[in-house]
Formats: sequence, C-alpha cells, structure tokens
Amino acid sequence: MAGRNHLCVPGPTNIPDSILNAMHVSMEDHRAPDFPKLVKPLLHDLKKVLKTESGQAFIFPATGTAGWEIALTNTLSPGDKILIYRFGQFSHLWMDLARRIGLTVEFEDVTWGEGIPLDKMEATLKADSDHEIKAVLATHNETATGVTSDIGGVRKVMDITNHPALLFVDGVSSIGSIDFRMDEWDVDVAVSGSQKGLMLPAGGAMLAFSQKALTASKTAKFPRCFLDIDDHIAANKNGYFPYTPSTPILHGLRESLNLLLEEGLNNVFARHHRLAEGVRRAVQAWGLTLCAVEPKWYSDTVSAILVPEGINAQDVILTAYNKYDVSLGAGLSEVAGKVFRIGHLGALNDVSCLGALGGTEMALLDCGIDIKPGSGVGAAIEYYRSTT
Ligand SMILES: Cc1ncc(COP(=O)(O)O)c(C=O)c1O
Repeated sequence: MAGRNHLCVPGPTNIPDSILNAMHVSMEDHRAPDFPKLVKPLLHDLKKVLKTESGQAFIFPATGTAGWEIALTNTLSPGDKILIYRFGQFSHLWMDLARRIGLTVEFEDVTWGEGIPLDKMEATLKADSDHEIKAVLATHNETATGVTSDIGGVRKVMDITNHPALLFVDGVSSIGSIDFRMDEWDVDVAVSGSQKGLMLPAGGAMLAFSQKALTASKTAKFPRCFLDIDDHIAANKNGYFPYTPSTPILHGLRESLNLLLEEGLNNVFARHHRLAEGVRRAVQAWGLTLCAVEPKWYSDTVSAILVPEGINAQDVILTAYNKYDVSLGAGLSEVAGKVFRIGHLGALNDVSCLGALGGTEMALLDCGIDIKPGSGVGAAIEYYRSTT
C-alpha cells in the first residue's frame, strides 16, 4: 500500500525522526572511558521526567513487564501481602505476576471503565491494622480501558490511614505524557517503558526507586539476578551497566529526554490533553461512548471506544488496517470485540489525530455503523481549530 501506515495503537508509538537518527549509531564499547558521559546525564535527566530529586533512576534492557517484577522482587519477600485493584488487562497482568512469583495478593475487581476506588481503598487500609499489606500496586493509566487513576488521591488515602505500605505505580502509559509526580506523591517505585511516552522502541524499562524502597531492598528476600537493582547501583555509580546495554536505546533516550524537556513537561501534558479532547469530541459526534464511564477517568493517552451491540470491534480494527492502513488498538480480554482503542500519545499533532479519526470513521461506516460521514472528524477539526 502506498504511503505510510498510521500507527494509532497506544504503544509502541511513533518515533520522531530526530530519535530515529540519534539511534542510528555504530556499535560502541560500553566499557570505554568516555561511556559514562552518555550514561550519567541520562540517569540524571530521567529523574526530571519522573519528577523525583530524592529517588534513584534505573534503566534496564527489558520491557514494562520486567519493570513490574523489578519493583516487587527488589523490595518484598515471598509471601508478603500486596493490595491491587483490577480494572483492565494491565492491572490484571501485574496482579497475576505478583501471584505467580509467590506474593500473597489481596485484590478487588472494579468495573472495567473505572479506576482505583479511593473510598474502598481507605476502608481496606484502615481494616489492615496489623499492616500486613506491604505494598499497594497502582496502575496509573490502564491502557486497556483508557482510564487514568488519581495517584495523588491514593497517596492521600495512605497518609490519612497512616498506612506504611510501599506505593508502586505503573506509569508505563502515563509517564512522559500525563502529569506524574514521584516525589510529591511519595511514590516508592515508578515503572515506565520505552515504547510509549518516551517515543522509543520497546526494550527499555525505566524506573525510579525512592529512598524508602532502596532501604526495603536491603532486606527483600526474593532471589534475583538479572533484575537486581544492587548490580545496577554498583555499576551506574561509575556510569556503566552490569551487563551489555542497548546503546541505540540509550542514544534514543538522550534525544527523547531532550525533546520532552525542551518542550516542557507541562506543555507536553497540555498537548496530550488537547489532542485527547479532540478524539473525545469525535467519539461523541459519532454517537459512540468511551469505555471510561465518567470524565474523571478519561485518559489523555488512549481512548477505548465501545462499538454498538451486534458489531464486533475486531471487524472495525481489521477494516481500518486492511483498507486504510490505520492500526488501531484491539480490545483485550474482557473487552475483546467490544472496544477498539485509539492511542494518542507520544510524537503527535492535530493532523496525526485527524488521520486516526479519518481512518476510523471510514472503517466504522464500512462496518455498517450508523454515523454521519465527517461528523467525528468535523467535531475534532472544530475543537482543534478553536483551541490552537
Ligand atoms: C499500563 C501498562 N503496563 C504495563 C505494560 C507492559 O509493558 P510491556 O509490554 O512493555 O512489557 C503495558 C503495555 O502495554 C501497559 O500499557
């Protein structure tokens, strides 16, 4: 098919040309004397994006899933209890990982389309007077449903209940796109991945540990080797890694951090909000609804859109791909066939979103969904033009 594929899945995201160029480097000696000149400022600037001064940043040659495991195995011991709310495929997978490595999991199912229920969390933490819960796991942005939870609110609940548990946040599809404040919210481990807001290929798990989490790592009894932060702490101190790093990803990360910091994080968040709002206007004009049930849950990085009864969302996705070369995100697990997802994060502008909406609109019409041609794109155009 002529022209480029429109990649509108919520990760991997489009990679800006300057990052592609930065990654296009010959292989180099990762033990060279000048290698720390690349590594040390990277770890320093990564902390700016995570909004932490007191925490310690890590870069693992892995993905977000490893980030979940790094958080848990470096701070906890087999049998420890963790608390998690399940409201989408990614909160489910983190819970499943915790269970499979031998943690005791206390979890509650929440309607897919809602986020972390702060009132229920407060009751649960209050009831845990012996402080058996050692960590609260919070999925900041549930990519499967397009729901963003209130992490500042989670911290407040932990504070008012005087609960000493560690707070771990999955920011894989929020960090670098949606406001995230590690220090202000007293997050103990922040987990991110390279292929979303950081606009890189998959293959980098970026994290930060608070001082409290670093202290917990001294007594954590999970066996660990490849994912052990101690080996990174020892090597990173001198600007190196305990094993061969992916140097193209490191060069790409350098450019990614430059782009985000030059634009300014608040401007990055505002851009994502505005682009997301245009997509939401289109959804409304089509007469369709989001999986996120209330505006307070709306995600600025991904919209999961429900198709009408009797329509299989997978047909919309296949039509968009096969006829229009537009890649939309599939519905996962409980919402498979019920939703399709438009990712609006990373290197995007108004016209990128209009491309996604145009392809989607044609696919919706082809699948027999009763919408007015141009209605969604028109609503987004109106919104973008009036808010330039
Ligand atoms: C919120 C969230 N957490 C974790 C993951 C897992 O990351 P990875 O696929 O990089 O292992 C994803 C992937 O999409 C995600 O969206």
